[in-house]
Formats: sequence, C-alpha cells, structure tokens
Amino acid sequence: MTAASAPGKVILFGEHAVVSGAVALGGAIDLRARVRMEDMPGRTQIDACNLMLRGFSYDLVSGQVNSTEAANATRYISAVLKEFQARDLRVSVESGIPVASGLGSSAAIVVAAIAALNCHMDLGLSRKEIASKAHEIEKAVQHGLGSLTDTTLATYGGHCLVSSEIQLIDLPGLDLVVGCTRRPHDTMAEVERVQSLHRRQPEIVGPVFQAIGAISSRAESLMREQRQGELGELMNINHGLLEALGVGTRELCELIYAARGAGRALGAKITGAGGGGCMIALPRPNGAAALTVALEQARGTAFMVRTGCDGVRVEG
Ligand code: MEV
Repeated sequence: MTAASAPGKVILFGEHAVVSGAVALGGAIDLRARVRMEDMPGRTQIDACNLMLRGFSYDLVSGQVNSTEAANATRYISAVLKEFQARDLRVSVESGIPVASGLGSSAAIVVAAIAALNCHMDLGLSRKEIASKAHEIEKAVQHGLGSLTDTTLATYGGHCLVSSEIQLIDLPGLDLVVGCTRRPHDTMAEVERVQSLHRRQPEIVGPVFQAIGAISSRAESLMREQRQGELGELMNINHGLLEALGVGTRELCELIYAARGAGRALGAKITGAGGGGCMIALPRPNGAAALTVALEQARGTAFMVRTGCDGVRVEG
C-alpha cells in the first residue's frame, strides 16, 4: 500500500491581471488531498470519500446517489491511471480542500495520485516530471484549461510568483482565514468576462491590471519583512480593484465585510476568479478563531490555513 498527499493553494494577490501578464503571488495551503493505492488483482476501483461534499443527488429510478465532487475526483484519478496504464488497483481519494472554489483541489488530487502511483509502480518520476505530467493531465481533463500555478504549488509547496513563467520563492508563511461561499464558480467564465471588459475598455482596465501587478510585487517584500498591517491594506486595495473588474458577488462581499467588521481582519479580498468561490482574510494576532466564527455567522464555510506548506509527499 502506498499513499501520497498534496496541498491546495490560494492566490494571495494578482488574480485576473496575471492573465494579461501582470505578476500574481500564490501560496500552497495546509489543506490537502490524499490518494492511497493498494493492489487488487483482477479489478480496478476508485473510492472517493471525505471530499468536503457540498451535496449530492439521489436518482429515484436507478437508486443511484450522485455527487459532483466524487464524480470529479474519479475523473482525475481515472485520467492518471490511464496515462500510466495502471490497473489491478484499489485507489482511495479523500480531500480537505473544497472543490470548485479556486483552492486547487483538482491539481492536488492529480499530483497526489501521480506521486502515489510513482511510488507504487516504481516509475522513477522526478518532482519536475510529476509537476509537468500533472499539468498535462489536468489540462486534458479540463479541455485545455488547467492552471500551471495550481499543479506547481501542489507539487513543490511554498510560494510562487506567476507572470509569463512561474518562479518558486522563499517567503515566511502567512496565517489566513479562508471563507467559502456556498456557490461554486466557473473560472473560465469569469476570466473571459474580465478579458472582454479589458478588450472593450483597454484605457481603463489596463491601468487596473497594472495597479494589481504593482500590489503583488510590493506584497512580496512586505511578506518577506512580515509587515502584516500593510499587507492587509494591500489586500483591501486589491479587493477593490477586483470589484472594479466585476468579479465580486453579494455573498463574497458579505464575507469580506464580516471579516473586516469590528476590526477583526487586517485585510480581506477575493481569492481566485471570483463570481462565487472563496475569499481570504488576514487576521490580527490571535484573532483567527474569532474571524472564523464571524465568517460562519455570515453563512460562509471558514478554515484557518497557513500558506507556504509542504508540497507533495509520500505518506506511509
Ligand atoms: C484563478 O484561480 C486565477 C485567475 O487569475 C485565472 C488564472 O490565473 O488562470 C482568475
């Protein structure tokens, strides 16, 4: 039996602007997906359990229970097994990363599955090969999409700067609270909406992208110097600019104002594509638990996370 786990991620600064070449800053988080492989001669079975299920449907005619989360996890695992012609296996996947929320859950599942298989079948893949195979597979399953940032952070962990290429950087971890709306989002649709706004209003949206890129670059040095107050300020400015690009929603804003209310958070912003999904808030020292409660009271699902955690690792 072999098992591997890989982390999810948050975009700290720079989403959407990065699509047009500005810098973004991302970090792996300590929510992980785990994949376990055992020999099962004559059969290949994928068990998807503990996937942060948001819900499921029950078909009265067939008596089948369907869950989007389980179906998605199974699709990614099947693609990995097919790529390496692996069979006669029982594969179990579980994940503490909310799906369809911009937190890199599918990348973590694919990276953990390749790493577990690498060990189980003695494939001899390097970390670099795991990262590049994972990106290829995620892209194929997502019909040409698939974020290089997600598979890179799931593989290597830590933090990275993203522009035309991805650069891993050494930064101290940041304690954050992630608040998820209960509304999944469609990254591609949000990206297309913002890019279309950029095409229609280049003189206005271009400088917004530039300002967001400047925030990411400044944030890198603030994180290095652990100047949390100023980082919070930049999160609030970045959020305002994302609102200007039209990716805010009432649910996201309610979580952001709940986080900032009564001085709870130093700053808060959307993370990822917006239009649903999640926000992040930077708590004051010892304020993370109160912040989590405030987000839950505002009808979100909240998690305390730390950025910069380990990448993929073989477990047991
Ligand atoms: C989505 O997590 C981040 C976006 O900037 C899209 C991307 O970079 O691929 C919105």
